[in-house]
Amino acid sequence: MKTIEVHASRSYSIHIASGLLDSAGELIRPLVSGSRAVVVSGEHVFRLYGMPLCSALERAGFQTLGYMHRSGEQNKTFANYERLLERLSFLDMGRSDLIVALGGGVTGDLAGFAAATYQRGMRFVQVPTSLLAMVDSSVGGKTAVNLNSWKNQVGCFYQPALVLCDPALLRTLPEREYRCGCAEVIKYAVLGDADFFAMLERKPISAQEEEVLARCIAMKRDIVERDEFDCGERQLLNLGHSFGHAVESCSRNAVAHGEAVAIGMAMIARAAAAKGILPDAERDRILALLYENGLPVDCAYSADALWRAMLKDKKRSGDAINLIVPERIGRCRIVKTPLAELEDWLRLGGAS
Ligand code: GLY
Repeated sequence: MKTIEVHASRSYSIHIASGLLDSAGELIRPLVSGSRAVVVSGEHVFRLYGMPLCSALERAGFQTLGYMHRSGEQNKTFANYERLLERLSFLDMGRSDLIVALGGGVTGDLAGFAAATYQRGMRFVQVPTSLLAMVDSSVGGKTAVNLNSWKNQVGCFYQPALVLCDPALLRTLPEREYRCGCAEVIKYAVLGDADFFAMLERKPISAQEEEVLARCIAMKRDIVERDEFDCGERQLLNLGHSFGHAVESCSRNAVAHGEAVAIGMAMIARAAAAKGILPDAERDRILALLYENGLPVDCAYSADALWRAMLKDKKRSGDAINLIVPERIGRCRIVKTPLAELEDWLRLGGAS
């Protein structure tokens, strides 16, 4: 088992090992004084892994309850958050009891925000089941729900007590979702590790999963420890996300998050090359790696529509937005961009 320690406002461990789900109870028990655990999950994931997780928790002395939410980003709503809180209250859960998020990013965000706010905070453990959640959303304490169709508009930072990453759970992940996770993996490589990028060029992600998970999680841990509350360096993790979130919004979630991040990364690489910031050859390597991983690289929306969607971006401050721009594979910088110049970046990135 690989273990990565995170020292943020709360310190916690991230364990990575195949078959870890079975040991969840014994790993969680010492961290929780209460005796009850609510396992929050989407319907599909609960059918696959809900019972094995509940059994593992019960073997360690927990009384378990399942809570299923509707799957999909469009269900990460205030109404579903409220429903979960009402359920916790109905069950008379206390602050020392436990919420486990068993699922992908939607489940982690929804359950995490409920855990952070119910009775001002209860114990929270993440058991990510998607590649995207394993390498990104389960680490670092971001929780949120959407407001109308705007992403992550209401939420808070709330670090979990533990993260259990079991790559065996990826075997049942639909192929499209797996590819979405690959986009986040490639993001880490472009962001800060040229050797890692070359490693991804040599061998498919699925053939080196544990090593890939450990590298991505360690990179995220380092950034979160230096900038937990997203005031500076953590914004680098938004590589591909500013344009990507706009694509996601314009598509009304028909384009999945990871696909949108891939399109966003391709767009910013094209724009950076057009502006002479990124060498053309490095742009081509980024586009090729995305493409080889089955990810989209072309944008179907107009610069004007994307620009309007970007006005809702949380990273906007006044009349400027911070774009994360690659200078080399393995090195990116934050470029404060006036809204008036954004359409130019979008057009150079390939928007119509
Ligand atoms: N997913 C970006 C972050 O955690 O900051």
